[in-house]
Amino acid sequence: MEKKRISIIGSTGSIGTQALEVLEKLQDKFEIIALAGGHNKELLDAQAKKFKPKYTVLAAKPSPLEEEGAIVRASRAAIAGEGHNTFYGDEGLEKICSDKENDIILVACSGKIGLKPTLTAIKNGINIALANKETLVMAGDIVMQEARKHGVKIIPVDSEHCAIHQCIKDISQVDKLIITASGGPFLHKSVDDMKNATVKEALAHPKWHMGKKITVDSATLMNKGLEIIEAHHLFGFDYDDIEVVIHPQSIVHSAIEYKDGSVIAQLGLPSMHIPIQYAISYPERFEGIKSKSFSFAEIARLDFEKPDFEKFPCVKLAYKAGKIGGTMTTCLNAANEEAVFAFLDGKIKLYNIYEIVEKMMSAHTVISNPTIDEIFEVDKDIREKTKELIKNL
Ligand SMILES: NC(=O)c1ccc[n+]([C@@H]2O[C@H](COP(=O)([O-])OP(=O)(O)OC[C@H]3O[C@@H](n4cnc5c(N)ncnc54)[C@H](OP(=O)(O)O)[C@@H]3O)[C@@H](O)[C@H]2O)c1
Repeated sequence: MEKKRISIIGSTGSIGTQALEVLEKLQDKFEIIALAGGHNKELLDAQAKKFKPKYTVLAAKPSPLEEEGAIVRASRAAIAGEGHNTFYGDEGLEKICSDKENDIILVACSGKIGLKPTLTAIKNGINIALANKETLVMAGDIVMQEARKHGVKIIPVDSEHCAIHQCIKDISQVDKLIITASGGPFLHKSVDDMKNATVKEALAHPKWHMGKKITVDSATLMNKGLEIIEAHHLFGFDYDDIEVVIHPQSIVHSAIEYKDGSVIAQLGLPSMHIPIQYAISYPERFEGIKSKSFSFAEIARLDFEKPDFEKFPCVKLAYKAGKIGGTMTTCLNAANEEAVFAFLDGKIKLYNIYEIVEKMMSAHTVISNPTIDEIFEVDKDIREKTKELIKNL
């Protein structure tokens, strides 16, 4: 069997490093073309040494002079046949995503950075394993349209969407998607505990060890809101047919209900290795990194409860933004991301995130069928306005 050729954007992050653990076990199945990180040069260099990609990409700009010449120098080095080369910034990500040597690209960076490279890869006919949910929240209509146009598969990495992807046989027979949520660190804490939460408390997720942005989103449950929008775009379901249920054990990763009332769920131990491996290997399955067999008896019980949208109003905002559509979800995403950064910087309280996103959405004039340029403009504008609002809080 020919090796599948893969690149990873965000290889130094939580999903990226776990993807490399999967790939280490599947060396006979995959060839790594490129690895891209943000600012963690040391880790990216170590990964390059171990996995020997053809080139790497870093966001960090060493110095203006070096940056100017980086691509030229790297290209010269490539011609001269020297080891792996490093490219920088947007041009570097564009290089990966236009490199048709790739069979698939794992987009595992966090936040808005994922959108541009994903669109470039789609236009070049390269399949995407998508961890970066913000891409679909910002511009889901355009991304999915482009994917259909270019015959590109978008395979979800998010465990909930991966679960749904695995459950669906005939989508036309499915009535409802049921997305599970662990509930995050404040599930059974009081609203006051949540309002006064420190960054450390918000980052103490009981089930998943993830990057900081998604961990804060999980604490406010905005992560579930983003996932509802992601599911709407990936599977084409109306928002009223996408339900959220709290399931603290994170064993049932999501479910679907067929027209006849039959419910199919996907279960597994809470490990991102499984959905990552599924997404990059699809449609094949390999033993790969599987370390332990699943035992119902060991798990013993599974709990479910209704989410409290009064305590976690960010989910309501996401439903609202999704139903309005157009640039409203772009607005939600940009305001949320800036508010999360401000919380992590100690500038605002956790609960302010909801208030800020709500204010930004209330003031936003929606463009119903935006072009991609309009989406980037709205994104920029909302970020500036959100930062201004935070300054004056
Ligand atoms: N972690 C999970 O379990 C999980 C589960 C489901 C979905 N997701 C989604 O997956 C995405 C990644 O999450 P994560 O938890 O892995 O985040 P993370 O740990 O914060 O990792 C983010 C990655 O993006 C890289 N990055 C930052 N700026 C970049 C740039 N300009 N160019 C290229 N790469 C850049 C970072 O590089 P440096 O570290 O080198 O700066 C890092 O490799 C998010 O959209 C998240 O919602 C994550």
